[in-house]
Amino acid sequence: MTQYFSKITGWGMYVPENVLTNHDLEKMMDTNDEWIVTRTGIRERRIVSEGEATVSMSVKASQRALEKAGISAEDLDLIILASSTPDYLVPPASSIIQDQLGATKAAAMTVVAGCSGFVYSLNTAAQFIQTGAYEHILVIGAETISAGIDWEDRGTAILFGDGAGAVIVSRSLQPGGLLSMKMGSDGSGWDALIVPALGTRNYPSHENIEKKEHKLKMKGRPVFKFATRVMSDATVDVVTQAGLTMDDIDVLIPHQANQRIIDLALRRLNFPAEKTIVNLDRYGNTSAASVPLAMIEALEDGRIKDNDKVVMIAFGAGLTYAAAVWQFQPMEVSPEDEAILVTNWPVDSAFQRKMQEMRAAAFKMKVQARTKASEASMAIMLPLYSFRKGLKKRGKKNGKDEPKALEDKQSQ
Ligand code: UT7
Repeated sequence: MTQYFSKITGWGMYVPENVLTNHDLEKMMDTNDEWIVTRTGIRERRIVSEGEATVSMSVKASQRALEKAGISAEDLDLIILASSTPDYLVPPASSIIQDQLGATKAAAMTVVAGCSGFVYSLNTAAQFIQTGAYEHILVIGAETISAGIDWEDRGTAILFGDGAGAVIVSRSLQPGGLLSMKMGSDGSGWDALIVPALGTRNYPSHENIEKKEHKLKMKGRPVFKFATRVMSDATVDVVTQAGLTMDDIDVLIPHQANQRIIDLALRRLNFPAEKTIVNLDRYGNTSAASVPLAMIEALEDGRIKDNDKVVMIAFGAGLTYAAAVWQFQPMEVSPEDEAILVTNWPVDSAFQRKMQEMRAAAFKMKVQARTKASEASMAIMLPLYSFRKGLKKRGKKNGKDEPKALEDKQSQ
């Protein structure tokens, strides 16, 4: 039986022209550039202009991806849109995109998995490709988060931005593509990131609108905690599942939520920052668009090269998470080369595989030990921090000098 591999053959992105800087936000709410940069790493984000929304951004990104792949919209078998901010609750935005692209023979669906949506969708697309069911799938991550932001809530308004990234996943005989994946959900945190009154349980009545219940609410701390745990755990899972260690990984593409979350994960994984793609300083957290925007920029500027093994890891509302190891096959390969490559796949002997498994197991143990140590230091630091914060507040109340703030509250 022929073995098929998934291959990313095209990509395209679109971000709105309108830039909203931290200094602009200073004029809108009680915040400042220094706080935002030190607590998140974000400096600016893109916000849609009048007339732009998820579908229009997706169509622009998708047209670029189709052009790069050298196929037409009519060649698409399936469109998967990852988004929590569709143009309408009904119909699915994926169908409007299908219509606007002219993808007449494509099925279309929308995946709502928060910021993890794109990695969920890419993993899903790879299954349809590897079974041979489909030949070309368009996967889009697109969000217009700005539409759901309460611009008086400094806890969320500073974080998010709009944008769209699209890739074409095609059937290939070249070994590579999706090597391993992991998807999960911790539904016990369902209310940590929520728009309370924009569904069937609670609708945007006058009263709810007055209370801004139709806007995004977030409990930042629990999401932060969840994020730091799954970023390293899920990465270790997919890397070991592929029989690899972090030493074999060429590029890491983390969800672009917060520089501190990324730094903490890198420390636990003992992975260099130079091999990690970060663009959150320019776009903020674009939710389901964040991983594709980072991936596409890295492909465009050559940071992802032929045969690179790349980890993608995302987390978000739900609370969901998804990770994958993807090997990027060379774009140019003749059919003869493909046939040779396939007969050589997998090339590993049973002994090589055993060795790989042992390396992977040793690597997993090392990361688990680092994670335990880091969690233990968090458990000690947090009460200490809260105690000092209490002192600081009391000191302020009594007009006394403030005790010196803890320098690194990073570990929360
Ligand atoms: O895709 C998933 C999306 N969500 C996330 O990734 C969110 C994960 N969580 C986070 O990234 C962080 O929790 C935040 C960046 C949201 C907040 O950072 P934090 O270090 O957890 O800050 P905090 O909420 O504990 O607030 C610390 C202080 C508070 O003041 P007091 O009580 O110490 O006097 C806040 O009122 O900072 C204050 N504060 C701000 N100050 C200036 C909170 N937001 C702001 C702000 N500007 N924008």
